[in-house]
Amino acid sequence: KIRDGIKEFNLTVQEGSVEFLNGAKTKTFGVNTDFLGPTIKVQRDDTVKINVKNSLKENTVLHWHGLKVPGISDGGPNRSIKPNNSWTTQYKIEQRASMCWYHPHTHEKTGYQVFMGIAGLFIIEDEDSNSLNLPKEYGIDDIPLVFQDRRFDMKGQFLYKQSMHDTMMGVTGSISLVNGVIDPILEVSPKTIRFRIMNGSNARINKFMFNDLREFTQIAGDSSFLPKPVKMKTLLLASAERAEILVDFSDLAGKEIYFGDGFSNKPLLKILVKNEKPQKFSIPSTLIEIEEYKNVATKNIREFTLNMRPGWLAINGKQMDMNRIDEIVPLNKVEIWRIKNQQRMPHPFHIHGCSFRILSRDGKATFENETCLKDTVLVYGNETVEIAVKFEHESTKEFPYMYHCHILEHEDAGMMGQFIVK
Ligand code: C2O
Ligand code: CU
Ligand code: CU
Repeated sequence: KIRDGIKEFNLTVQEGSVEFLNGAKTKTFGVNTDFLGPTIKVQRDDTVKINVKNSLKENTVLHWHGLKVPGISDGGPNRSIKPNNSWTTQYKIEQRASMCWYHPHTHEKTGYQVFMGIAGLFIIEDEDSNSLNLPKEYGIDDIPLVFQDRRFDMKGQFLYKQSMHDTMMGVTGSISLVNGVIDPILEVSPKTIRFRIMNGSNARINKFMFNDLREFTQIAGDSSFLPKPVKMKTLLLASAERAEILVDFSDLAGKEIYFGDGFSNKPLLKILVKNEKPQKFSIPSTLIEIEEYKNVATKNIREFTLNMRPGWLAINGKQMDMNRIDEIVPLNKVEIWRIKNQQRMPHPFHIHGCSFRILSRDGKATFENETCLKDTVLVYGNETVEIAVKFEHESTKEFPYMYHCHILEHEDAGMMGQFIVK
């Protein structure tokens, strides 16, 4: 709805039920529907107003993952909305074309509420995305794919966190969902299709690939396009990371192919290619110019060490405390954040209110498909990652920003900190 030039969205977080498995109604949560939520689509410079209503019987809140909005609009745990209450927020879209998302951020219950189904996509377009020659027909040749995994009990209900093992390893399940559907089938024309992929699972790392190992081209990551397209056969995404890829299906008219996960060796999505006249497409050789964080010369380095012992997850030796501010960060100043992982397990580190650039992994350049702007970075076992970051909005003691591991069980168990920007 557009009113006075402001794009208005109404999001109701509600209970629902879905028949995922034959004969069983699984209790779920969703946004305006039973499971997951509508895609929000905006243009850069739009002003949006979002009304969030909580129709659950428990507190919740929606956080705009990847959006550069002030702390007051960010939807962190301090924003908690009580049952039958609403929160209205308004902000301007001031960032590059990208696919972001929204999900709850309820204190110690984020993992549970996301697992139940609260999440949706938030797509930003800008001059670059509008003018680049790319497939753009939403749902036809520009297709969002949200990958999640779920575990069910004997009665067909979601089976969330059960044990210390789940807290330490994160909750995973053997049943995979794409856009909330089990055993999904997608029909496409024999041409180049753009997939906007999100790893929306609580903890699983996916290694996406096709069953015939065909090459595809990544054009965007979390928070922007890449400077130029990157060809690959496998795409690794951790929880909360996104990527856009172009796939040429013009050789497959009348045939089928599978997109799946190379770690579990499972097909996740069956793709039927229509028996039509194939169309060729040529991918632009360059995409965008990234001016942000060029030639970073700062000496302001901030260190974050990820800690993990049985039942205790922390950052810099401290577990998340809603009454403690961990960092005070200057507004509009580029800093280097050094993230140290001293365990074997990889952790996807996410920061609110910004997009950043990865400077190095153990002192070396990062992968070419990570040279875009990012908001989440997978820090591998025993690795140190440096990023350049800047915050263009304030966050206050009342509504601070968060940095945390995006394995949601780690976040809920304390691998999270709060910071203000001023
Ligand atoms: Cu996806 Cu604190 O966020
Ligand atoms: Cu976030
Ligand atoms: Cu973690």
